[in-house]
Amino acid sequence: MNTDRSSSPGHASAGESVVPPFAVVPGGQVQQALEGREKEIVEVVEAAYRLHGAGRTVNPPSSFLRFPDRPTSRMIALPASLGGESPVDGMKWISSSPGNVASGIPRASAVLILNDPATGYPFACMESSIISATRTAASAASAADRLSRDRPRPTRVGFFGTGLISRYIHTFLEGSGWSFDDVGVYDLSADSAAGFRVYVEQSGSAAAVTVHPDPEELIRTSDLVVFATVAGEPHVTDPAWFDHNPVVLHVSLRDLAPEVLLASTNIVDDIEHCLRASTSPHLTEQLTGNREFVHGTLDDVMAGTVTVPGDRPAVFSPFGLGVLDLAVGSYVYDRIARTGELRRVDGFFHELSRYG
Ligand SMILES: NC(=O)c1ccc[n+]([C@@H]2O[C@H](COP(=O)([O-])OP(=O)(O)OC[C@H]3O[C@@H](n4cnc5c(N)ncnc54)[C@H](O)[C@@H]3O)[C@@H](O)[C@H]2O)c1
Repeated sequence: MNTDRSSSPGHASAGESVVPPFAVVPGGQVQQALEGREKEIVEVVEAAYRLHGAGRTVNPPSSFLRFPDRPTSRMIALPASLGGESPVDGMKWISSSPGNVASGIPRASAVLILNDPATGYPFACMESSIISATRTAASAASAADRLSRDRPRPTRVGFFGTGLISRYIHTFLEGSGWSFDDVGVYDLSADSAAGFRVYVEQSGSAAAVTVHPDPEELIRTSDLVVFATVAGEPHVTDPAWFDHNPVVLHVSLRDLAPEVLLASTNIVDDIEHCLRASTSPHLTEQLTGNREFVHGTLDDVMAGTVTVPGDRPAVFSPFGLGVLDLAVGSYVYDRIARTGELRRVDGFFHELSRYG
């Protein structure tokens, strides 16, 4: 990692020369650093999964802040440490307020702090709703590819819930080499479905877009299904809807009833993480009393130690790991550092001599 962490020598005090400079990275810079680089970012995310699978990360459980008087809102802290050739520590702090959508602004907002492993000092505060959506979409694109290798490659994708995350996933699928004949759409909100349709049509996609009136039709006509709703508990309960054995990217984690998972091959990002917080895999564990329905992680699939048969539905449920945010955040930071356009906040850390 190019940390651009050295202060200018000559007039620096001892503390100033050791402590990395602090930069603030706004969303515009983040977006510019990521735009059009979908294939490369999928590789960055896959490399982070490989490091995680090899035990070269620290990724404690996410910490949820919930509010008795605002039950639909939450904030989540994701501390993490990413090893490898360019180690970095840090934390994503992401807030979800579903009511924002009615005001025309995104549900989620976030910052990512990057810390220097040598000193512990933070060296960047980055706008992170884009980084978070990007790592989520890159992980989904990777799973779509890896889970469909032993079946005909999907040509009909269905988006169940059509907010910002579905938009990013569509961009990442097409940007990493997928092309679809049909894009199906289902959303409880007609406005969201219409907005997503316009986005797909203007994205340059060659696919025909169909807004489906009911969820069963969407699922039965899609061989790749993306769940990105804000449902708090399962609302898709009939395994027969999946009789055609689609690949399912269960990004919103709480849509599918245990019966659906029990009829599928289940791949997660991290078993300990994913079987928490009332996700569908967690509910399935509670129902069955075991974890035998989880076949492995995406890293296992990449390593070839777990195969995903084409004669059952394949469901990917990613809890969302902080190490992915660090990987994509570092990638962004490095790109901006190389252009010399980091916006440093000089003197951010002021008390740099222990005795004044
Ligand atoms: N697993 C991960 O790593 C990860 C990362 C980021 C986001 N997410 C999840 O992705 C989901 C989507 O995020 P977003 O920012 O796009 O949200 P959003 O609010 O922008 O969009 C969600 C859409 O889902 C629709 N919806 C809600 N309930 C539905 C239902 N039962 N059936 C059909 N449509 C329904 C809403 O009308 C809305 O259009 C959230 O649940 C979020 O927590 C997961």
